[in-house]
Amino acid sequence: LTRGPRARRTAPAALAALTLTALTACTAGGVDGTPGAAGVRDPFFPKLGNGGYDVAHYGLKLGYDPESRHLTGTAEITARATKNLSAFNLDLKGLEVKEVTVEGKEARFSRAGDELTVRPRDDLDRGETFRATVRYSGTPQTVTDADGSKEGWLKGEESALAVGEPAGSMAWFPGNNHPSDKAVYDIEITVPKGLKAISNGELTNETTTNGRTTFAWHNAEPMASYLATVAIGAYDTKKSMTSKSNSGIPVFTAIDPTMPEGKYEKTEKVLAKIPEIMDWAEINFGDYPFSSTGAIVDDRVNLGYALETQTKPVFPASDADTSTLVHELAHQWFGNSVTPKTWQDMWLNEGFATYAEWLWEEDNGGDSAQDTFDALYEGDYYEDEEDNEAIWDFPPARQPDAASISDEPVYDRGAMVIHKIRKTVGDDTFYDIVQGWAKAYRHGNANTKDFTEYVEKHAGDDESREELKQVWADWLYGDGKPDNP
Ligand code: ARG
Ligand code: ZN
Repeated sequence: LTRGPRARRTAPAALAALTLTALTACTAGGVDGTPGAAGVRDPFFPKLGNGGYDVAHYGLKLGYDPESRHLTGTAEITARATKNLSAFNLDLKGLEVKEVTVEGKEARFSRAGDELTVRPRDDLDRGETFRATVRYSGTPQTVTDADGSKEGWLKGEESALAVGEPAGSMAWFPGNNHPSDKAVYDIEITVPKGLKAISNGELTNETTTNGRTTFAWHNAEPMASYLATVAIGAYDTKKSMTSKSNSGIPVFTAIDPTMPEGKYEKTEKVLAKIPEIMDWAEINFGDYPFSSTGAIVDDRVNLGYALETQTKPVFPASDADTSTLVHELAHQWFGNSVTPKTWQDMWLNEGFATYAEWLWEEDNGGDSAQDTFDALYEGDYYEDEEDNEAIWDFPPARQPDAASISDEPVYDRGAMVIHKIRKTVGDDTFYDIVQGWAKAYRHGNANTKDFTEYVEKHAGDDESREELKQVWADWLYGDGKPDNP
């Protein structure tokens, strides 16, 4: 624990009798703490995240029994106050909070909706690093998103899977649940012996005592809360290394052993491509930003989509195909390392990840990215006419509401924006920009404006810069189908 050099002022017992006004008037340093905000004003999810502090580290210790569906958790949160705080919030959905301590002292807390408000015994000073510990338990919920998809805690036959895009992480741990506050994580899960518990990062310890096994996973690089995952159940796990000549990256895969044989073998074949895809991605996007890679494929929990959970994307068996694997691995650069500042910037994730699929196709004997772009523009990409039309529903950087943050324009038209950049600046400059962008904002946060400014700055000449401004106007922000492909 690191703490600021401040000396904490403890109010003498006699002061307790004074009125609150009199008490706060004596606060050392002169500036009173006030409560931190209950949200960070995300355009689509204003209550997500919290103001007044910045989390550096989450230490999560979870226990879960798939049979009773009971979760017990201790979240140890190390954070720095960004203002003088009399109280602060954490996001938490459901579950019962048993105890909260701040700096080892019991703190008062209250719940309202998905907000857990913590009132530390002593105010926290701006700049101070503090540790808050929350003990909780209960049955974690499955959350239905605005678009009808499921996230949070998904239950399967003797298994469970936790996923959190955009808001589901608060269904299994309290935190600052917004992509703008990334932190380092240690996630430890105890499950009945015989089952496995897999999470992001690298396995640092596995111990069995009294019929229960504890798996400890370490993430040295920062992670947004929506990318945290836990997969509990029987899994066939495999460890290997990417083939790259320079040292290589550890690969950790987990496959649901209950899948029918055909599906299982197909999944194994697809996951065997991880080293090749990683090598290809490093050539195109630059050095891999994390310490390990891999994938989790699960067919028990009815996850209707794949998700780029950090270092180990998760897939339902139906989505465990090469294209989706390329997409989710590309997200490790675009989304996971370079993370959106708000959910409005989601196209930066999905546009790049979708464009990665087009590039993979182009580099592996399939359609060129130009072919894909043209098919989308001409409206003969999808079999279903409605899907071809849906691309023009709204501009990728201006989704109308929370229900549309994962809609087609964010993916396909987002990728079309990336392709327009490539056509404008040429391949050499394009790859410099892609790699430069991933490097400049590595492990950070960026929004659409950061991106367009970065691209313009590195476009090469004024003529390209002018053309790019038109690309933003027509393709990124403009309504309807642009006239000029
Ligand atoms: N980001 C995921 C992917 O494209 C999809 C997440 C879908 N989630 C949702 N709430 N619709 O790889
Ligand atoms: Zn995606």
